[in-house]
Amino acid sequence: MEQLIRRAAGILARSQRLVVFTGAGVSKESGIPTFREAQEGLWARYDPGELATMEGFRRNPRRVWEWYAYRFGRIEQVTPNPGHRAIAALERYLPRVVVITQNIDDLHRAAGSSDVIELHGNWRYYKCLGGHTGFTRADFADQTDVPPRCPRCGALLRPDVVWFGEMLPAEAIERAFAESSTCDAMLVVGTSGLVQPAASLPLYAHRAGSPVIEVNPNPSDITPLADIFLQGPAGQVLPKVVDTLATITPGQETGFPAACG
Ligand code: APR
Repeated sequence: MEQLIRRAAGILARSQRLVVFTGAGVSKESGIPTFREAQEGLWARYDPGELATMEGFRRNPRRVWEWYAYRFGRIEQVTPNPGHRAIAALERYLPRVVVITQNIDDLHRAAGSSDVIELHGNWRYYKCLGGHTGFTRADFADQTDVPPRCPRCGALLRPDVVWFGEMLPAEAIERAFAESSTCDAMLVVGTSGLVQPAASLPLYAHRAGSPVIEVNPNPSDITPLADIFLQGPAGQVLPKVVDTLATITPGQETGFPAACG
């Protein structure tokens, strides 16, 4: 593993345009269960389609609102883990790092990452069924209705996260594919690679000839196209990669030709 970590750090050390693509696994060590794991206790009886779809919301707005209140209550308690912090630390050594995440927990920004593309939304924001967006809890703190209503038009409010069957935010997914097609390396952390269209991003990087490095305790659908597979938890593996990166300058360790003196 040490040798693989050194090779991965060598690839990152040469990157001028790095993309880091993350899924629920990067937040696991912060104590955030994946969507499916969160369906425990009284929530276990429901099909995800009843809790995270527009149809489910229309059928039972209160149940869906309470499901997200439960999940967001757990997210609010957690902090970034060493994996998030290592990803943020990459910006200290590399000229350009773009994080593309499927997570709604905002932990990459909390850890210090400065350029984050959120494909599935963000738990802090709400929108209404009338099309108004950009609300936070402060905008409906005075309301007792469950779900609360839009301060502007009175339509029901809902979390501004992507539900099953919904389109991803156009600007986010367009930029994600553009960045993945033009990066010179991609670091994939904690995703099963099962949910499209996000799961295609590593394929775009691979097709563009960029090396793909994967960090995951288990093989995933991405592993077959990864140039380097670092098998282990992000919170343990990524700090080692960044520590190694910090010691590398081009020409050492990685076998790259030393800069002409
Ligand atoms: N470090 C890194 N990866 C981990 C860790 C860890 N400590 N623990 C688990 N993993 C890996 C698992 O092996 C798995 O491959 O994280 C991945 C989580 O996969 P999913 O639960 O399918 O999450 P994700 O790939 O993000 O799913 C995409 O599906 O559930 C919906 O909208 C939700 O954004 C989510 C989307």
